[in-house]
Amino acid sequence: MDVDAATGGAAAGTANVGVVGLAVMGSNLARNLASREGNTVAVFNRTEEKTRALLDEHPEAGFVPASTYEEFAARLSKPRTAIIMVKAGAGTDAVIDELLRVFEPGDIIVDGGNAYFPDTIRREKAVRETGVNFVGAGISGGEEGALTGPSIMPGGSDESWATLGPILKSIAAVAEGEPCVTHVGRDGAGHFVKMVHNGIEYADMQLIAEAYDLIRRGTGRSPAEIAEIFAEWNTGDLESYLIEITAEVLRQADAETGKPLVDVILDQAGAKGTGAWTVQTALSLGVPVSGIAEATFARSLSSHPEQRAAAADLPGPQEPSLATETEGFIEDVRLALFASKIVAYSQGFDEIRAGAAEHAWNIDPGAIAKIWRGGCIIRAQFLNRIADAYAAEPDLPLLMTAPYFTEALSRGQAAWRRVVVAAARAGIPAPAFSSSLSYYDGIRADRLPAALVQGQRDYFGAHTYKRVDKPGTFHRLWSGDRTEVEV
Ligand SMILES: NC(=O)c1ccc[n+]([C@@H]2O[C@H](COP(=O)([O-])OP(=O)(O)OC[C@H]3O[C@@H](n4cnc5c(N)ncnc54)[C@H](OP(=O)(O)O)[C@@H]3O)[C@@H](O)[C@H]2O)c1
Repeated sequence: MDVDAATGGAAAGTANVGVVGLAVMGSNLARNLASREGNTVAVFNRTEEKTRALLDEHPEAGFVPASTYEEFAARLSKPRTAIIMVKAGAGTDAVIDELLRVFEPGDIIVDGGNAYFPDTIRREKAVRETGVNFVGAGISGGEEGALTGPSIMPGGSDESWATLGPILKSIAAVAEGEPCVTHVGRDGAGHFVKMVHNGIEYADMQLIAEAYDLIRRGTGRSPAEIAEIFAEWNTGDLESYLIEITAEVLRQADAETGKPLVDVILDQAGAKGTGAWTVQTALSLGVPVSGIAEATFARSLSSHPEQRAAAADLPGPQEPSLATETEGFIEDVRLALFASKIVAYSQGFDEIRAGAAEHAWNIDPGAIAKIWRGGCIIRAQFLNRIADAYAAEPDLPLLMTAPYFTEALSRGQAAWRRVVVAAARAGIPAPAFSSSLSYYDGIRADRLPAALVQGQRDYFGAHTYKRVDKPGTFHRLWSGDRTEVEV
């Protein structure tokens, strides 16, 4: 018996939106859509049992089921709008092909999965040629967010946004009265911004983990005691979902062993690839996202047990103790964490600026900060300060140069330096803290040793250099009489 027969059938064109892919994200998003006034939701999944299970478990949603793509298309009112929530990659391409078979020009296909933005650019171009609209929409917030209100980052055309905007606004998280969704820009802009969001998330998580490690190894506090420190921090500048859940994780005991849960979890961090995409993209754009890169590499480093075992006997410092006054050190770590976090976000927004320039996307960074205030993993009070900074100066060259952030960096920098020095002295790895500080010192430097690098490049490869005292491009005849020639 197919699902259509099971439900007694449904009239054609009764649903204003459909969802394809009913695993955890798609089911929750479909339930979220169905719970909003005015929405009737058509649902389809390749394996029909999942459709049936969703209908059985949630009769209140009034879903309109389909067991074939033809039925799915017939259930939707025109222009048809379908949100794909399937495994990113080949699954997405397969579903797009099927939908194109049954959809008509003017209909809208939305990919809500975690697609790599160049794939979205490619798909948008190909789908547009058929007259159907294609929108790549980054959706953040995990399964809970999909159900109760995610942060949504849609790309695609202005025409698609006109139809899609009200639907997405109805299901998005709300922060300070505003829905956490904005039309990010054309084609792959939405998935690009979602990618950078995830990169920033990697950096934020790594910084928090380093702060925990420094306090634990530096002061001997227990995870439960550090949980209270994070709970306290969550009432100030650092207030955020990630700090909040960190306190929860650190507070958790393992029922089986009685130990803190964090001590029985294997210390090898996984990754699904969005951090790596953010770093790879930044490398090709020439944007230094060192905090995100260090966070991504820190996960890689943790996940090589054989190398870690082989390196375990390498010598550490003679005096591995931080030997510092505890309360002062904890406050130093808090200030260092905030300063490093400013750098991570500044770098992430720098990548958004560069990506927008490269792809001619008109991305409003202040609007992005606002839609990250709710629903997503990096939601935080701090994002209001970012939105304020871009409202005051839309062409801000670097987020950390906005007055609020320069003031915070200047307030925290002495502590930041003490923490990085203490970590190095004690042999406690703090790659994100220290790389953020190096970035800060690099970007504010009057002169950089890049001059010497240019000299080296000219020596071995005739790559030329420019001079500080006159215009032009020069090369020195290194293997000849070393005179300088203008090229
Ligand atoms: N999980 C999260 O927290 C999270 C957060 C944000 C975004 N996302 C993204 O949201 C999307 C869905 O995630 P998920 O965890 O719910 O599911 P998933 O495990 O990534 O994918 C399973 C779904 O994809 C369908 N599928 C796979 N290949 C297919 C194909 N060739 N044709 C048709 N359908 C196919 C499956 O159908 P069958 O049932 O027939 O196998 C099933 O409905 C992914 O792109 C994911 O990256 C996930």
